[in-house]
Amino acid sequence: MLSREENERLTRVGAGTPMGELMREFWHPVARSAALEADGAPKRVRLLGENFVAFRATDGRVGFFQENCPHRGVSLALARNEENGLRCIFHGWKFDISGTCTDTPTEPAERRAEFCKRVPLRHYPVREAGSMVWVYIGRRAAPPKFFDFEFHRPPADALVRCGIVHGNWLQGFEGQLDSAHIGMLHRSSTANVGQATNRLNRFATTNTAPRFEIVEKPYGFREAALRDLGDGSVYARIREVVFPYYSFIPGDDGQPRLVVVVVPIDDEWSAHWYYYMNPFGPVPDWYKRWAVIGTTDDDDDYSADKGGVANIWHQNRDAMKAGHWSGILGNFTYEDFIVEESMGAIVDRSQEFLGSSDAVIGRARRMLLAALKEHEQGKLPFGLDGSADYSAIRALSIRLPKTLNWEEIDPRDPPQEVVEAAE
Ligand code: FES
Ligand SMILES: [Fe+2]
Repeated sequence: MLSREENERLTRVGAGTPMGELMREFWHPVARSAALEADGAPKRVRLLGENFVAFRATDGRVGFFQENCPHRGVSLALARNEENGLRCIFHGWKFDISGTCTDTPTEPAERRAEFCKRVPLRHYPVREAGSMVWVYIGRRAAPPKFFDFEFHRPPADALVRCGIVHGNWLQGFEGQLDSAHIGMLHRSSTANVGQATNRLNRFATTNTAPRFEIVEKPYGFREAALRDLGDGSVYARIREVVFPYYSFIPGDDGQPRLVVVVVPIDDEWSAHWYYYMNPFGPVPDWYKRWAVIGTTDDDDDYSADKGGVANIWHQNRDAMKAGHWSGILGNFTYEDFIVEESMGAIVDRSQEFLGSSDAVIGRARRMLLAALKEHEQGKLPFGLDGSADYSAIRALSIRLPKTLNWEEIDPRDPPQEVVEAAE
């Protein structure tokens, strides 16, 4: 439970708010690289309550600008994208990817060059990694070092999907921190998927009250959900949480691991990016079908079946009578999206009644609140000072002898007796 004021501090992301300012210290993923074609349509992007436009220029480089033309505010999402720049359709003023104004055809020819130099356009640093476009919209002259995440170098068959959810970012992020719901909410959607799946995951559904242990890290924390298997071994689901909004979730038996990134669009909407990738081999076909079921829009795979409160999100009571747990059919992510939306756009955390399974969420909130305070006092948040090794972050699902301490296991190099794909 939080006070109303704490809830406001954690959830509001506009410029000038405590969380909005902390978030602006980081790079953010905003679009799939494939969504931007050279000289193709610019893409309107809303991030942290501000509007922008992304485009790929003739030479393949990506530009990221304020959405509104600095002349009289027409959306540059309408602009012509040609000859290495965006040209506003209203009066033809043109800007290259560095944000420099290169033409103002409505000014007298002899004054144009001088005039162009004075046209201000807010433009932002861009990177492309892991099939995504990343931007920095913060206030510092130089952006922070770009994180060296494993998913920035994904195997060729990695999947990237997005769901746009009408719910505050923290609801989405907390849903990912909440291991306890896997055996409940997802009990039908993750059971019996594919032939070879869930040899370990089944323990998550047969033991719904694991013991949680947390180790704080400069970037966030490692967390293990531990289940004693009664034969001298322990099933450990080790997740990594990277603030402000990354959750690294393990897979079993050759299943891809999942990285879920919940990016705030504004106070009430969030973009949930899902990276599915398998460090041990190809992503199985059955998994691809399962992960992308119902997808019609690569930039919002939730859009096709999107329901709402008026139709109770198309929950299927017949399916529930026939044994389906949630009655939410389609991709398992829909179950997450719908429970988030059903809380209301910004859930009132002063009205909660938390249990022991919420310990991880409570810890994360305390860490975020502490970081907000420190940030207001001028300290860089969460490993941005260079103290974190992002390349080493990887989730792991293992069965290990009780004699081994999970904290000592390097997820990139687990010891021999620790088996990722347990029989
Ligand atoms: S509003 Fe864009 S050129 Fe005039
Ligand atoms: Fe979930």
